[in-house]
Amino acid sequence: MFDIEKKEIKEELQGKPTVLAQTGEGLGKKVFIESYGCQMNFSDSEIVASIMHENGYRTTANIYETDVIFINTCAIRENAEQRVRQRLKEFKSLKKHKPNLVVGVLGCMAERLKEKFLEEEKLVDIVVGPDAYRSLPDLVSQVEDGQKAVNVLLSLEETYADINPVRLGGNGISAFISIMRGCDNMCSFCVVPFTRGRERSRNPETIVQEAKELYEAGYREVTLLGQNVDSYLWFGGGPKKEFKNLSEEEKKNSVNFAQLISRVASISKDLRIRYTTSNPRDMTDEVLEVMAAYPNICRYIHLPVQSGNTAVLERMNRGYSREEYMDRIHAIKKYLPDCAISTDIITGFCGETEEEHADTISLMKEVGFDYAYMFKYSERPNTLAQRKYKDDVPDEVKGRRLQEVIELQTQLSLESNKRDIGKIFEVLVEGPSKKNEAEYYGRNSQNKVIVFPKENVKPGNYVSVRVNDCTSATLIGEIVR
Ligand code: 5AD
Ligand code: SF4
Repeated sequence: MFDIEKKEIKEELQGKPTVLAQTGEGLGKKVFIESYGCQMNFSDSEIVASIMHENGYRTTANIYETDVIFINTCAIRENAEQRVRQRLKEFKSLKKHKPNLVVGVLGCMAERLKEKFLEEEKLVDIVVGPDAYRSLPDLVSQVEDGQKAVNVLLSLEETYADINPVRLGGNGISAFISIMRGCDNMCSFCVVPFTRGRERSRNPETIVQEAKELYEAGYREVTLLGQNVDSYLWFGGGPKKEFKNLSEEEKKNSVNFAQLISRVASISKDLRIRYTTSNPRDMTDEVLEVMAAYPNICRYIHLPVQSGNTAVLERMNRGYSREEYMDRIHAIKKYLPDCAISTDIITGFCGETEEEHADTISLMKEVGFDYAYMFKYSERPNTLAQRKYKDDVPDEVKGRRLQEVIELQTQLSLESNKRDIGKIFEVLVEGPSKKNEAEYYGRNSQNKVIVFPKENVKPGNYVSVRVNDCTSATLIGEIVR
């Protein structure tokens, strides 16, 4: 069974569009931006908004009054793409009433399909990949001159380091900072290396500066984003290199992920640091040591396992075995005994047998994950798995296995939450609870959502909350002095 609240959060991240709120002044043209997919996409939309602002546009949340629609898309699973196609159909009727309306497709699906998009979806005017957002204002002008416009060039350098994202649609307390782009991992199921290009890290000075400005503007939490944050390494820019391959000069000035989080965490003890996503094959003890040294680096690690069986992990090209994954779990528990751990799981990957699936179930129990994002395998065109293996697990078997992992995880989450009853946590107040106006919600360091009666506090405050009760998705508590 799904828990409604967690399901909502998950859908928000994975599928439900996020529309940016209205900003800007004057009579400039308006752009409406809708985002699908991961936090990185959401963060990219804030960069797009900034680029458009610089060029005289303002963002609107009202699709009926806009001049330009950008839909920032995800390609990770087939159903993510279907949702976008459905949405594009809805835009069609808008365009009938407003022939000058410009529709642009951005992000991973744009990069995957390139020019094909214009053939398949006649009403689309612009197709732009994740590394080409600086060209958006020019492309819109081209369309206004009667042409179609495509820019899907991937870059080895682009990190948008100098662009100050326009923070829209957020709560003014918690923000994302993108610290790197692309991915070099080549997991066999994954389309991301093809849609987001080569891995490259962003200049740490600009990251620290962005975090400082957010803190000064009243933000109290930043989440550092990358497809594989543990391999963050700044050495002056350009595509990823291993530390051992740097020149002496580059080594001297280099900054790795452990050093980066330590710098960001030093800004203020009142600024919480989170990060995602970690990769089991790159997560170092050095990072865990730094986390242990800074109480404001949150006790929460998202460590996708995908499968609990070593042979499946090999077919997935994940670069670790079940034992190596468990070694990382033990390291987390050693350095950070109160750390919550979440994961991603795929059911029904190519050739997955009942025994291999049973290994995923047993690993979930062994770790006792606090939370998980769970998916049926969806074959993606041109990935290693599509070229090398048969997508041979029947859909109903994938579905049944998914149901089993979801049911187990709901139970594990409930057990994890029950263990918190009676404990007191420091909670960052984020806003009014959706269900009850008299309550606030916030999260503890472990990333668990807690609701509690309002009393005399405000969003952005830290409060001590004692947990009195829980569901599998939420802790329920009250402020203690
Ligand atoms: N099918 C199903 N799930 C996938 N993911 C990535 N690619 C696929 C796919 N082809 C999942 C992985 C990843 C998460 C972001 O999405 O679990 O960690
Ligand atoms: Fe994000 Fe991956 Fe979807 Fe691209 S394909 S939007 S990187 S989840």
